[in-house]
Amino acid sequence: METGLPVEQFDYDDEYLRNEGRRRADCERSNYFPLWKQLVNLIRSVGVPERPDVLEIGCGSGQLAQLLLREFDPEYVGVDRSSVAIRWAKELNPGDADRFVLGRVEDQKALLGRSWWAVIAMEALEHLVDDLSVLARLRRGTRVFFSVPTFTHPSHARYFTSEVETREYYERKLSIRYIEPVAVGRGLWLCAGATQ
Ligand SMILES: C[S@@+](CC[C@H](N)C(=O)[O-])C[C@H]1O[C@@H](n2cnc3c(N)ncnc32)[C@H](O)[C@@H]1O
Repeated sequence: METGLPVEQFDYDDEYLRNEGRRRADCERSNYFPLWKQLVNLIRSVGVPERPDVLEIGCGSGQLAQLLLREFDPEYVGVDRSSVAIRWAKELNPGDADRFVLGRVEDQKALLGRSWWAVIAMEALEHLVDDLSVLARLRRGTRVFFSVPTFTHPSHARYFTSEVETREYYERKLSIRYIEPVAVGRGLWLCAGATQ
């Protein structure tokens, strides 16, 4: 469901600063850790090559990156528009600080046009005014692992109240092969697919 909210104006830096304790903690201490473990198992289930190229859209403060770097030793790049989040991501992953890019994903022409084994976007696509256009810029056959919310919020351009609604929306750009409801936070859909 499209919310019509002015999400481009949402102040992500302020949101991070107001939630510093949980946003700066190691990944295990986040209440999203069960979701990230489920994501790791889902990624593993498709058979991961050595040193996979992985792009994370909306990487936030680098908590999922910490887990992905540990589990898969990927050639990882994370992009996020919040300067506070990117600074904390670098601090949380000091050996991989140069992998975090500050900016709007829509402006990352080189990154979006590159070949990736997988693109990951957890609680991120709903913040983009036109997420389908971003997905359309990825190379054909790119695996996409993502989660989207079941609820509205001032930073959400859209949310999804059913599996059918989620599938119908994302099947405009992806071949969806997995959708599962996850009871983390206020509820979300964990999804996997590939660009067409
Ligand atoms: C709800 S947070 C999720 C962060 C992280 N993926 C997680 O699961 O903890 C959404 C993130 O998307 C980022 N974001 C929003 N719009 C963006 C855009 N246009 N380009 C890049 N990042 C964006 C925000 O700064 C924020 O870090």
